[in-house]
Amino acid sequence: MCPSALGLAPPRVQLLQRQDPLLLPPPGAGGRSLPQRPVPEPGRPEVAPRARMPVQSIHCLMPAALRLPPGVPEPLSCQRRHTLPASEFRCLTPQDAVSVFEIEREAFISVSGDCPLRLHEIQHFLTLCPELSLGWFQEGRLVAFIIGSLWDEERLTQESLTLHRPGGHTAHLHVLAVHRTFRQQGKGSILLWRYLCHLGGLPAVRRAVLMCEDPLVPFYERFGFRPVGPCAVTVGLLTFTELECSLQGQAASRRNSC
Ligand SMILES: CC(C)(COP(=O)(O)OP(=O)(O)OC[C@H]1O[C@@H](n2cnc3c(N)ncnc32)[C@H](O)[C@@H]1OP(=O)(O)O)[C@@H](O)C(=O)NCCC(=O)NCCS
Repeated sequence: MCPSALGLAPPRVQLLQRQDPLLLPPPGAGGRSLPQRPVPEPGRPEVAPRARMPVQSIHCLMPAALRLPPGVPEPLSCQRRHTLPASEFRCLTPQDAVSVFEIEREAFISVSGDCPLRLHEIQHFLTLCPELSLGWFQEGRLVAFIIGSLWDEERLTQESLTLHRPGGHTAHLHVLAVHRTFRQQGKGSILLWRYLCHLGGLPAVRRAVLMCEDPLVPFYERFGFRPVGPCAVTVGLLTFTELECSLQGQAASRRNSC
């Protein structure tokens, strides 16, 4: 059972707006899965097409700085351009991969020497299935994120760490992380809640699965995840518990509670 069915939503979460348009996939993603392709070689990060645009052509698209005479107020439309949203939730794009990896590097690599997704894997998933990711930005800075992909088997396997199976009905949450300066402030909980609401609005997704180390199991249980046993996946000496959360029948109630 998931939080909406159990009435477990923490009070702060219930303040969230309904059907937040910021939870929609970015333009072009359209909620569709793009064709699957192999993960590039480690050490050779895949470059998103936009990043390949020659420097000159980017340069000529940049607006020249305009100066208004003293005393003339800027038009409102210009003023808005300078102001980043205080808080924004949106699906991630490949251009966010470096910010994601920076948070991962601090959260995981500095602790254990490894992390759930390497830079090229982040770029891979954000290219193939951006609609299964969610980022929380404050004044334009990424403070927390979740990256997921689709999986089509009952249990996770080693392959599920690197593959997106577009025909699958299971959202595999690869990683949830909060920037270290923003931890223990409820942000991870709010983001996970919004993500599950978002998944509830994707017709193809019937359940969510993840693997985590044992101390984090109670954290995920608060959101309706239940342990299904030891995970077949191991990373070095690390072992994990696999958890699942059914989203079936929850879509309508989640849409109404988001
Ligand atoms: C785990 C994480 C996502 C939680 O986000 P957060 O914003 O700090 O968490 P919240 O403030 O919403 O909730 C706090 C709860 O998270 C749980 N929690 C956080 N870090 C934990 C840890 N290292 N071990 C066990 N539980 C932890 C606890 O239940 C805690 O509640 P408590 O303080 O009452 O014990 C965040 O701490 C983080 O990014 N950690 C590093 C990366 C990571 O381990 N990600 C999860 C595995 S993919």
